[in-house]
This record gives sequence, C-alpha cells and structure tokens, in this order.
Amino acid sequence: MANILVVATSKGGTGKTTLGVSLAAYWRDSGKKIAILDTDPNQAMVRWASKGADGFRGISVLACSDEHSIIEKVGELGAENDLVIVDTAGFGNQAMIYAVAVADLVLVPVMADEASLLEAVKMKKVIDSASTLTRREIAFRTVLNRVKRMTTVVRHTERNLEQLGLRPASTRVGDRVVFQEASYHGGSPLNLSSNSVAGMEIRKLARELEPELFGA
Ligand SMILES: Nc1ncnc2c1ncn2[C@@H]1O[C@H](COP(=O)(O)OP(=O)(O)OP(=O)(O)O)[C@@H](O)[C@H]1O
Ligand SMILES: [Mg+2]
Repeated sequence: MANILVVATSKGGTGKTTLGVSLAAYWRDSGKKIAILDTDPNQAMVRWASKGADGFRGISVLACSDEHSIIEKVGELGAENDLVIVDTAGFGNQAMIYAVAVADLVLVPVMADEASLLEAVKMKKVIDSASTLTRREIAFRTVLNRVKRMTTVVRHTERNLEQLGLRPASTRVGDRVVFQEASYHGGSPLNLSSNSVAGMEIRKLARELEPELFGA
C-alpha cells in the first residue's frame, strides 16, 4: 500500500493545489510512482493536469468529489503507486475529513496572516479528532507559503505555529511567479526552471517531509 499525503486546510487559496503538484513532480522525478486524487469539486488539479505540459508526465490524476468514494479511491490508487497525494477543497467538508482519516501525513499550507493561522488551528483539531477516531497518530506539518519577505508578520506567524504545536516546516515557500506560470502552462515549477529558487524550496520541503512520509 502506498503512502498517503493529504494537502488540506479549510482556508481557500493558501497553495494546497500548487504545493501538491510541485511535490508530486519532485517525487516523480526522484523515481517514485505517483497518483493524485483531486477531491475538490472545482477540480483545479484536473484542470492543471489537462493542459498536457510536462508537469504531470507519468502521474495519474483522478477526480473524486463524492465523499463516500474517497477512501475506496485512495485504496485503489494506493495499490498501484508508491505515493498518493490527495488535494482537498478550500472549505471544511466531509471529503477532506475522510481524506485526513486515511492520511500518513497531512500538509497544511499557511499564509502569513491571522485568518490563515486560525484555519490552521482548526485543521489541527480536525486531525486530532481523526486520530482519535481511527486510533492512530496522524502526522501533520504546516508550511508557510507565499512568503513575500521575511517580515515581522512572517516571524510572528511562525512563532505562533510553533507555540500552538502546529509543527511548521523549517522550509518556507516564497511568493514566486513561477508557480503561477506553471499553473497556466500545465508545467511544474521544477520543470519550468529547474534551478529556480522555487524549485530549490520545493526540493527542500520534500526532503523535510520524507522521514514522516516514507520513514527515515
Ligand atoms: N508560493 C506561491 N507563489 C506564488 N503564487 C502562489 C504560490 N502558491 C500559490 N500561489 C497562487 O495562489 C493562488 C492559489 O493557490 P492554489 O490554487 O494552489 O491554492 P489552494 O489552496 O489550492 O486554493 P483552493 O482553496 O481554492 O483550492 C493561485 O493563483 C496560485 O498560483
Ligand atoms: Mg486547490
């Protein structure tokens, strides 16, 4: 059975789809067989993949927004892949809760603002409840995304994440135009510009998540 990474937060637009695609491309390039399950009714991931550029080469993408089929679909993809990445919608919904319940690791993208932080706190409660329900520890990490500059607001958000036990990754992902270009062209930031700072940040984030996702 594959490892399951769920990218989730009930805050819209924090970069779930962007980070999901970027990490998928990174692990694909490092030799893993990857599938993506798009559980967002808006199907942003499917739209991105349908552009036919190199970003999704070799990655299977399946859409499923019927919450009652999510666990089954994750199981099916998991049987044939090394890693299943589940993209979720940017509002609290049952599909997201089911996905979290089968996750090995939940990645919660957070922007440096109070609303994003509060949603991350809510996500932690969802993950804690899912852990209790399934009687196992579901690992999670937050990651600061769309960081423009290292301002006091960024440091304050990061400190809060730490103090609240929300486990921020030491990698911060900057606000970089290459991510937006990639979604227009259907590419991945790694393919569009392999030596870009964005590409380096994604590689660093992926390596930081690997011990919790695949074991040390
Ligand atoms: N690090 C980044 N730098 C620049 N732009 C970014 C970055 N991350 C995300 N974006 C842009 O922000 C917007 C929202 O990102 P994305 O769609 O990935 O968020 P989301 O959490 O999946 O949104 P939703 O909740 O609607 O599903 C997109 O236009 C995307 O290109
Ligand atoms: Mg999305």
